[in-house]
Amino acid sequence: MEKLIIRGGWPLCGSITTGGSKNAALPILLAGILADGPVYYRNVPRLRDIFTTHKLLNILGCEASFDGEEGDSARTCVGTLNPEAPYDLVKTMRASVLVLGPLLARLGRAKVALPGGCAIGARPVDQHLKGLERMGARFDLDSGYIVGRCAELRGAEITFDFPTVGGTENLLMAAVLAKGQSILRNAAREPEIADLAHFLGACGARIEGIGSDTLHIQGVETLHGCSYAVMPDRIEAGTFLLAGAITRGELMVENCPVKELDALLVKMEDMGLKIERHEHKALVKSNGTLRGTQATTSPYPGFPTDMQAQILSLMALAQGSSVVEETIFENRFMHVPELCRMGADIRLSGSKATVRGVRQLIGAPVMASDLRAGAALVLAGLAAKGETQVQRIYHLDRGYERMEHKLRNAGAEITRVNDK
Ligand code: UD1
Repeated sequence: MEKLIIRGGWPLCGSITTGGSKNAALPILLAGILADGPVYYRNVPRLRDIFTTHKLLNILGCEASFDGEEGDSARTCVGTLNPEAPYDLVKTMRASVLVLGPLLARLGRAKVALPGGCAIGARPVDQHLKGLERMGARFDLDSGYIVGRCAELRGAEITFDFPTVGGTENLLMAAVLAKGQSILRNAAREPEIADLAHFLGACGARIEGIGSDTLHIQGVETLHGCSYAVMPDRIEAGTFLLAGAITRGELMVENCPVKELDALLVKMEDMGLKIERHEHKALVKSNGTLRGTQATTSPYPGFPTDMQAQILSLMALAQGSSVVEETIFENRFMHVPELCRMGADIRLSGSKATVRGVRQLIGAPVMASDLRAGAALVLAGLAAKGETQVQRIYHLDRGYERMEHKLRNAGAEITRVNDK
């Protein structure tokens, strides 16, 4: 197992470039199943979840790989499809459930291991299944697997009980090849869903309402291959902006989806940070003082749950008190006891965390419990006095590519070592 060792206290300066979005690349790569010809992708991050997605696609009978050793170009090409996504892969990556829609659309069959619980809550898939049932699929549970069948998928009007990112993506992928028209209402509006819709459009799908909560899809007979660049990762970009802020530095984040990060940028301004917005980059500057604020996570365009852990680290060092309310996932505060081990003053009560800012965090050995919790601990370590050791960084590697290299280039003292 590897860990990160961070010597905190250095202001980050210069620039860091954001890579391609993990959460957009995952469904977009899986949507390659829907296309008859080869698909060429650019701006795909080299992350563990992406390698797992390639492995999953290979098992399903689809060629999928990066082009060469380095670089961000990848390719998929459908061969003879097999309908089974095995437990060994699904358990490591919940997003595997997104193959249900594409497999039902192409084969009329799908067998996908039930994803089960994970560190940030129960995360059921009932909305995915209900929507696919409305399109004519039938599901059984067999030895831990969801087994789906349909003679053909028919377009349907589906209203989600609440906006779900994965549910919207799964139904969108099913609807593009279903017979007739589908309308998805109360759909999630996350930018990664719009990116998937644009990708499907480039393959010949007919989708209207992209970016809104109502998607109109006219099913087509076939989709063709295309060449597509995945959007930049807004959560990675936001994490780096917070790294500049928490170290009281001056950092430019390049290839930054500025508009899509607005909810975070506004909060950072509330806290007294200066943000310069450019078309594809944003600069964060600290004037030394940080004020507390409050943030409530909600579906896009609200404050993203995937930035909650990281902003809590910044709040730990802000003057006065701050409150964070988590409304998307239960049990998404596993980073709080670890931050408290570094001297933060945070109290949890149900879905709320109340923070009383402290003047200084102190380095300590801490443990990442999930991806964004790990990022929050790295941020805290960058600002803390002395040495912080972040263990279980395999969580971080699921969502940040070469994080320590990028931070080191901006002046951080951070190294990856083998934890014997
Ligand atoms: C995606 C993101 C994740 C992000 C989340 C919310 C990917 C790969 N992951 O996850 O990083 O934190 O959006 O922005 O893109 N739910 C149900 N039933 C369902 C579906 C969801 O109850 O059928 C619940 C979940 O348990 C959760 C909430 O709805 O509490 C939001 O889930 P959802 O929006 O579907 O998130 P994911 O697609 O899993």
